[in-house]
Amino acid sequence: MAQQEIKIALCGAGNVGGAVLELLTVNADFYKKMFDTDFLVTEVVTKSGKLRGYKDKFNGNIHTDFESIINNDSIDVVIEVMGGIDDAYKVAKQALESKKDFITANKAMMSLHGDELFKLAENNNLFIGFEASVAGGIPIIRSLSSKARIENISWFAGILNGTSNFILSKMESDGIGLKEGVKQAQELGFAEADPTLDLNGTDAAQKGKVLSYLAFGSKLDSSIELDIEGIDIVESIDFKFALELGYSIKPLSIGSHEKDRLILKSFPALIQQSSILSKVNDEMNAIEVFTKDSGSNLFYGPGAGPKPTASSILSDLFDIAQDNKVNYSKFGQGLMKISNDTFSCQRYLRLEVNDSPGVMAKISSFIAKQNLSIESVIQKEDFSQNGLIPIVIVLNECNENELEDLLNSFSNEKDLFKKIVHLRIFNPNK
Ligand code: HSE
Repeated sequence: MAQQEIKIALCGAGNVGGAVLELLTVNADFYKKMFDTDFLVTEVVTKSGKLRGYKDKFNGNIHTDFESIINNDSIDVVIEVMGGIDDAYKVAKQALESKKDFITANKAMMSLHGDELFKLAENNNLFIGFEASVAGGIPIIRSLSSKARIENISWFAGILNGTSNFILSKMESDGIGLKEGVKQAQELGFAEADPTLDLNGTDAAQKGKVLSYLAFGSKLDSSIELDIEGIDIVESIDFKFALELGYSIKPLSIGSHEKDRLILKSFPALIQQSSILSKVNDEMNAIEVFTKDSGSNLFYGPGAGPKPTASSILSDLFDIAQDNKVNYSKFGQGLMKISNDTFSCQRYLRLEVNDSPGVMAKISSFIAKQNLSIESVIQKEDFSQNGLIPIVIVLNECNENELEDLLNSFSNEKDLFKKIVHLRIFNPNK
């Protein structure tokens, strides 16, 4: 291959942008040897006009707005690592319209505008790389897309948010509460100053939506709303009961597809301690992908952080250098019926009730009235607080509507049930 030069505009100069600059500078000779290419960041766009991350040896131009470089025909590739949705979408559109390949780490933007951007890229014969948008350094976009072009994917289940996995892991191993877990995650630099999107499941669900596009061809636009439940409903006492029942609690994003029915949800779930995903601890991410032909495949690694994310961005850049430009527009299958109500699993219910005779009989009668069946019950007098005792009930499989009817019937009895915590039990092999 003849020697070539790829000129890059980098939008965003924070930690990830800095790591991109650093790797391209420090490893320049190696990359040149591997890809017969000089990768040159000639322009950086950053609102503040300053590089926050890697500053050494950068002698390109710094701009404060993208418009000032959009007509620069010497740029081959735009890399977007600035975050946010609206401005990032504008940069993506302008980059593609001005005939530049585009690489992004932005799952929020791709989960809303992916369909449109893939079409735009296809029409202009350009490439969109988004390896860094899901699970940081794990090469899940290329792995899942190459699998999905060979076999039908039955389902995936991912731990896609490092912050919430870190917090739940610490709650489990050290017996701390959610607040302390968030504090530790912030001190270690995993959680943002405002960790809302990590804690409420939005970040994980956006990533799940991107994976579902590759796995099943579901839409990447605003027509698919995120179905989320955050980890903030889990309390330390739930880990004690989960352990006794043989489970860990993990933040899961699941997708499954059968005929035209799609299930796409994110929630904290009990998963069997013998399962592979239950061993994924701290800030690590993992995705289990199941196909009928090749069974279960596990992808594991660091889900966030500047260097792992930059490494995934460079993998897209090197695909461009080798002209290995996947047309992601081909994955879209259009409209699909979202059937989240039909999602069926066993259930963990923790009810805090007054410690008085006949309570258990009453609870059982509610459950029987809804035609649901109990698998096991744990009642612990020694966990009682302020006259309330926790009762944990494991229900046999039921779907989301059946569960909701049961929870509604409980909530009409405010004197009896002081608190109701519901967690799904995820067991894909059942
Ligand atoms: N905040 C995310 C996480 C990383 O904790 O996994 C960026 O998507």
